[in-house]
Amino acid sequence: MSPVPHDVADLALASEGKKRILWADRDMPVLRAIRDRFKRDKPLQGVRLSACLHVTTETANLMRTLHAGGADVLLCASNPLSTQDDVAASLVVDFGIPVYAIRGEDRDTYYKHIEAAIAHHPQITIDDGADLISEIHRKHQDLAEQIVASMEETTTGVIRLRAMEADGVLKIPVIAVNDAKTKHLFDNRYGTGQSTWDGILRATDMLVAGKKVVVCGYGWCGRGVASRGRGLGATVIVTEVDPIRALEAALDGFWVMPLAEAAKIGDVFITVTGNIHVLREEHFAQMKDGAVVCNSGHFNVEIDLPALERMATTINRRVTEHVDEYVLPDGRRIYVLGEGRLINLAAAHGHPASVMDMSFATQALTAEWSLKQPSRLAPRVYDVPAEVEDQVAQLKLKAMDIQIDRLTDEQAKYLRSWEMGT
Ligand code: ADE
Repeated sequence: MSPVPHDVADLALASEGKKRILWADRDMPVLRAIRDRFKRDKPLQGVRLSACLHVTTETANLMRTLHAGGADVLLCASNPLSTQDDVAASLVVDFGIPVYAIRGEDRDTYYKHIEAAIAHHPQITIDDGADLISEIHRKHQDLAEQIVASMEETTTGVIRLRAMEADGVLKIPVIAVNDAKTKHLFDNRYGTGQSTWDGILRATDMLVAGKKVVVCGYGWCGRGVASRGRGLGATVIVTEVDPIRALEAALDGFWVMPLAEAAKIGDVFITVTGNIHVLREEHFAQMKDGAVVCNSGHFNVEIDLPALERMATTINRRVTEHVDEYVLPDGRRIYVLGEGRLINLAAAHGHPASVMDMSFATQALTAEWSLKQPSRLAPRVYDVPAEVEDQVAQLKLKAMDIQIDRLTDEQAKYLRSWEMGT
C-alpha cells in the first residue's frame, strides 16, 4: 500500500518512532481518554485540520487523537530544528497521517511545508508560533472564510495574533490555547523549566551547581527555568523590564539586576522573553571567557547572532554536537547552544509527555468545542472556555488518583452572599 502524501527525512525510521510515540502515550492519560471517546463519537468527522506544531512524540499522540475523532489531519513543522524524524516517519507509515517536516530543513523547505498544510484547505488550524495562520493571511486570504477556528499553542503566537486583531487585520477566529490555565501554568512553567535544562545538559554536560545563571525574562517560562536552575544548585539572576515581574522574582529569592550588570558575571545565559535582541553586542562585549548562551523562547531572535558573528574573529561550528564557539578579538570564547533556537527542542525532546498531555488535551477539546458553536465565531482572539479547562484539570487529577474536596452547601451559599460580615 502506498503511504499517504508526505515529505519526511526517511520512512525507514518509522519503527523507532512508533516505539517512542507509544512510550510517550503511557504518560498522556487525559489525551488517551479523549481519544477513546473521539473514536466512539467522531466529533470531528470529515473536518480538514492542518496543524503546524513541533513534530514530537507528544504531537504525534495529539494527531492520533484528532484522527480518531474523524478529522482529516495533516501536520507540518513549526520550527526547522525541532522535528523528530523518526516520529514524522511513523506518523506516515504506522498511522496514515500526512506529515511535512524534516529536521534541519532550510527556510524554503520550511515554507514549502507550510504551503502543503494550506493546500489541505483546512477548516481548523493549530499553530505553535502563528506561522501557518500568518501565511494564510499573507497569501491565501480567500481561505480565511472556511476556517472555523484556529488554535494557538504558544505565548509568542498569541502576542502576534493579538497584534493582528488590534490592527484590524485578523480574518479568522483564534482561540488562545496558550492562555488557558491548563496550558501555561503547567506547560510553560514546569515543561519549559525542566526541558530547557534537559537541553542545556545534553548539549554541554555541565555541572550546574555553583554556576551563575542569568535568566532573561520572568514570565511563566522564566519562572520555571529559574526555579529549576536553583534546584540544580545555581545562583540564579533574573533580568526583567516589567517592574511587577522583577519584584516577584526578587521576592521569590532571585537576584534581580540589569542585563548590562549580569552580563559581566554570568556563566550561563538563557533568554525566555519572546522579544528580539535581548542579548546583543553590548552584552557579548562584557561576558566572561567561556560564557554559555542559549534561548528557550519561541523564535531564534532573542540572541543577536548576526552581531556576535560580526564581533567574532573565528567561529568554530559544532565544537560538540549542539555547540558553536565564537572567539572574540581578545581571545574570549562565547558558546552558543542550538544555533540560538529553542534549546529544549533543538538539543532535547521538548517538554515531557505528562505536561503536554494537558496542553494537547486542551487543544483537542477546544477543537471539538469550536465545531459545536451554533454559528462561525467572529474573527477575534478568544479564551478557551472555562468548561474545557475544568474538564482537562478533572481528567488529569483522576489520572493522577488525586481527590479534592467539595464546597458544603453552607460554603457555597456564603460565597454567593454579600450580607454576612464580621
Ligand atoms: N513544545 C515544547 N515541548 C513540546 C513537545 N514535547 N511536543 C510538542 N510541542 C512542544
